[in-house]
Amino acid sequence: MKFENSKRLYGRSRKSLAGGVSSQVRAGEWPVPLFFERGEGPYLYDVDGNKLIDYVLGQGPNIFGHAPAWLTDAVREAVQRGVSFAGQHELEIQAAEAVQKAVPCAELVRFASSGTEVVQAVLRLARAYTGRPKFIKFEGHYHGWMDSVLYSYTPSLEAAGPYDAPTPVPGSKGMSPGSADEVVVLPWNGIGLLRKALDRHKGQIAAIITEPILCNTNCCMPKPGYMEEMRRLCDEQGIVLIFDEVITGFRVALGGAQEVLGVTPDMATYAKAMAGGYPMAMFAGKQDIMRLLEDGSTVHAGTLNSNIVAMSATVASLDRLTEDDGAVYRRLYETGEKLMDGLRELARRHEVGLLVQGPGPVFCISFTTAQEVTDYRSHKQQTDAARYAEFRKGMMERGVRLTARGTFFISTAHTDREIEATLKAADEVMRGM
Ligand SMILES: Cc1ncc(COP(=O)(O)O)c(C=O)c1O
Repeated sequence: MKFENSKRLYGRSRKSLAGGVSSQVRAGEWPVPLFFERGEGPYLYDVDGNKLIDYVLGQGPNIFGHAPAWLTDAVREAVQRGVSFAGQHELEIQAAEAVQKAVPCAELVRFASSGTEVVQAVLRLARAYTGRPKFIKFEGHYHGWMDSVLYSYTPSLEAAGPYDAPTPVPGSKGMSPGSADEVVVLPWNGIGLLRKALDRHKGQIAAIITEPILCNTNCCMPKPGYMEEMRRLCDEQGIVLIFDEVITGFRVALGGAQEVLGVTPDMATYAKAMAGGYPMAMFAGKQDIMRLLEDGSTVHAGTLNSNIVAMSATVASLDRLTEDDGAVYRRLYETGEKLMDGLRELARRHEVGLLVQGPGPVFCISFTTAQEVTDYRSHKQQTDAARYAEFRKGMMERGVRLTARGTFFISTAHTDREIEATLKAADEVMRGM
């Protein structure tokens, strides 16, 4: 494969864009951050003429693949009448009503533009509702790049501190020093640790925020009973339970992870898959919390909130996700499971220690002999990141684009053809490992 044009454009972009990119996670790609000309279905086409099977899918949003004609048409048709009104329009109500039907915790909703900002909104609401200052977040969970939550996403084990009382490790220079006082960081999937922390900070915790399925680290599922007990403890102590469903929402089921797990949080955050790749985010929650926004004493605002691009894409996407009694999800699971099974079988044949875990529409692979990874620390201790980087490079050389952290996003546009081509590439790469 050639990358000459991407290399040239990257050289040029570094003179006008800080680091040559617009989001940190795009820096440091091999061989350089690629420049793309277009996406179509499960494929991306770059400026060097490479055609890549895409499992990054924009980091999750493109659940129908790239540029599905029906979605492009719906947005094109809508934007002809204007885009930003700073006022109300009926598409918002249509989308909100569809969400109310689909998502168990969605008694009321608000729309916004990014996952990062809706996380801030729900933390503010939880504080306003409870009158308490702190919240609990878990190691290896990502909730956006703001000061309040960018703690202990990928800390070194030395910096992370003791297992039963972790140190909040800032993910960036320049974060507000005061923000560390408000966050209590814990390992995930340990109910005893959670109980102890709640005792230690009694009456101080406004919210627990968690990815309900830990998609940002090894796609770990919650242990049986873990979420149920978290729910019970929150009820008992008047704590707001927040599911960050920015990845899982509308991807693992129409009602997100809360539907799959059968545990309903008090509030939840969404973005990514709900608008099929268009910029959209949402938070949803119980009436008595969301109603704090009614009199303006607790504030959520945004110039571009519920613009026509976002809302027309959302309404069209929700229509598609709800039609034919879950056909989209049947397809996503079937495709995901086929690829997961195929990768497991190849690893067995090549005697490569490979763990493939996750629900299917999103899953993760890691190089390890462990049977299961259940939290950030076990991921860090037991999986071989350098080996995955080698595998990922080999896949890229064979025309398959994977995420840096081993997460695979599946779309309805991926067919048997792409799965077979992906497994053929994986077969070749594993043979050389
Ligand atoms: C679980 C989760 N929450 C929040 C965010 C932040 O969303 P955004 O990148 O739209 O700001 C992400 C982004 O990947 C995420 O995975």
